[in-house]
Amino acid sequence: MRPHHALAAVYPGSFDPMHLGHVDIIHRARAVFPRVIVAVLQNTDKAPLLPVATRVELIAKSVGELPGVEVTSFSGLLVDFMRQSGARVILRGMRAVSDFEYEFQIALMNRRLWSEAETVFLTPNEEFTYLSSRVVKEIWQLGGDVSGLVPPAVHAALAALAR
Ligand code: PNS
Repeated sequence: MRPHHALAAVYPGSFDPMHLGHVDIIHRARAVFPRVIVAVLQNTDKAPLLPVATRVELIAKSVGELPGVEVTSFSGLLVDFMRQSGARVILRGMRAVSDFEYEFQIALMNRRLWSEAETVFLTPNEEFTYLSSRVVKEIWQLGGDVSGLVPPAVHAALAALAR
């Protein structure tokens, strides 16, 4: 096990699919943390739009070239993944008050599970306040244009996918 470095941060999520709000958070995180591990949750009970491997690939295409950024997937408890990866900071984006209750609950639960886990909230550019993977999925499913909402690699993958 590596020593847990306060400056290594995990950015966990479903990323189904990654959107520009996520990209913005990753750029902001890089200005603060030298090592940012984007971690896609496996085996979620939601019916996914994209398989986990595809989500990882699209994130890697979109931000994987940035120095200090790693992209991977994890299963099980986030804190167990953190123990293995050497990170003790959890990054989450906070868009609006509506995010707060859920985020507060998981932050406190993660701290209870591992007292060294510290959750850091970053606020995205206000341009992305309205943006979520759920909204992107819905617009795409209904035939709308998502090109200004997702990175080019995600746009190309969605364009190739049967609706
Ligand atoms: O993008 P999402 O779906 O809001 O991300 C939620 C995520 C992946 C951060 C959260 O569900 C998670 O960390 N799940 C892993 C299981 C776990 O550790 N649960 C305990 C904390 S409630």
